[in-house]
Amino acid sequence: MSIADEDVRPEPEAAAVRSPRHRTVLMCRPEHFAVVYRINPWMDPARPTDTALAVRQWEQLRGVYLDLGFDVELIDPLPGLPDMVYAANGGFVLGNVAYGASFVHPQRRAEGPAYLEWFRANGFETVEPAEVNEGEGDFLVVGDAILAGTGFRSTDASHRELEAIMGRPVLTLRLTHPDYYHLDTALTVLDETPGHEHIAYLPSAFDEPSRTLLRERFPDAILVAEEDAAVLGLNAFSNGRDVVIAARATGFAAQLREHGYTPIGVDLSELLRGGGGVKCCTLELRRSRTEPKETR
Ligand code: ARG
Repeated sequence: MSIADEDVRPEPEAAAVRSPRHRTVLMCRPEHFAVVYRINPWMDPARPTDTALAVRQWEQLRGVYLDLGFDVELIDPLPGLPDMVYAANGGFVLGNVAYGASFVHPQRRAEGPAYLEWFRANGFETVEPAEVNEGEGDFLVVGDAILAGTGFRSTDASHRELEAIMGRPVLTLRLTHPDYYHLDTALTVLDETPGHEHIAYLPSAFDEPSRTLLRERFPDAILVAEEDAAVLGLNAFSNGRDVVIAARATGFAAQLREHGYTPIGVDLSELLRGGGGVKCCTLELRRSRTEPKETR
């Protein structure tokens, strides 16, 4: 190939300029983390967990968020609720409205009211859920829509309930693989800005109609390999430029770089034993857009 040929090659995607958006997130320090029951295939109560290690790894994630300029708010962990660290499941917040979670499994049920109380005390308008749903674990904002997972945890009825509360289209996606039981284990929103929507996902985690919906709506999505999904690489959190991911998801990290993102790897191996990663530990607090923080 001559140099002239090279000159006319299209600009690689890496030329894309990604702009970060300020994030405010809610996290819960895993002081009471342990795997003492099994409600997903990742959990093995026979293997003892190291709570101190979980806390150290979680502090690293929090440190990455602070370095990225995020506001990190904290909810007090409650004894007897070892999964409370997975804050994404605590509810779903959009434009100051917090839709409470209602957990499938009795072991986590008390987390719903605890998170709802936090939202109330922190100035959000709260909505008690009538339907079973596990918050941002299954609900992801992209553009003007909300992608919603079902199949294992949040019900179809909760998708309709959320649509009525938020007044935004809620698109149902059906998960079929038990390892990817929440939407945020199989799909990451890289850029939620309307007009620039960009996602990454594992196609095999979804049923055929959902795959068709995703293909048609997000033709330029990054399709992630099984081995990256299997370390919960898709359980990532993006500000539109920097993407915090599982350190072991190296293939996904390379794909992100090709698309102009900056992947930041974090090791949450101990929390992975509960079946959660970066995104599970993170609940985005979307306060209404008129607040100074959002318009600055
Ligand atoms: N052990 C927790 C459960 O099975 C993990 C939750 C992970 N959270 C998430 N957003 N995917 O409920």
